[in-house]
Amino acid sequence: MMKRFALMMSLCLAPAAHAADDVVEVWKAKCKSCHGDTGKADTKMGKKESITDMSQPAWQAAQSDADIRVAIADGSPRNTKMKAFKDKLTAAQIDALVGYIRTMKAK
Ligand code: HEC
Repeated sequence: MMKRFALMMSLCLAPAAHAADDVVEVWKAKCKSCHGDTGKADTKMGKKESITDMSQPAWQAAQSDADIRVAIADGSPRNTKMKAFKDKLTAAQIDALVGYIRTMKAK
């Protein structure tokens, strides 16, 4: 009886935990190679293309959520290395990435 209850609880909690894991996985799979683990662009591509350090408070302040969302969905008009991800990610995944990028702000 208790066992079954515990199983039901873990099934109910799974989706919420999954959403947070998911954005980290998406970042690692699709963004990290250029933007680095923590958005600092401390990568080969980051140096070569002088990619913005997303942890900088000034950069964070200058971008609205919509700006970040558009950059991810449509790519950068300034640099073709930043591709449009709207056909590769769902709107929910892009929103989650915006939130994830916000957590990268240096304190
Ligand atoms: C192949 C390398 C590469 C990958 C992979 C990549 N980016 Fe980029 N990204 C860039 C480059 C280069 C720029 C700089 C373009 C510019 O000057 O605006 C950029 C710019 C951005 C910007 C806008 C920065 C600004 O200052 O306007 C955002 C937001 C962003 N990337 C998010 C992401 C996210 C999220 C992912 C993963 C889904 C991703 N990028 C994957 C290369 C990459």
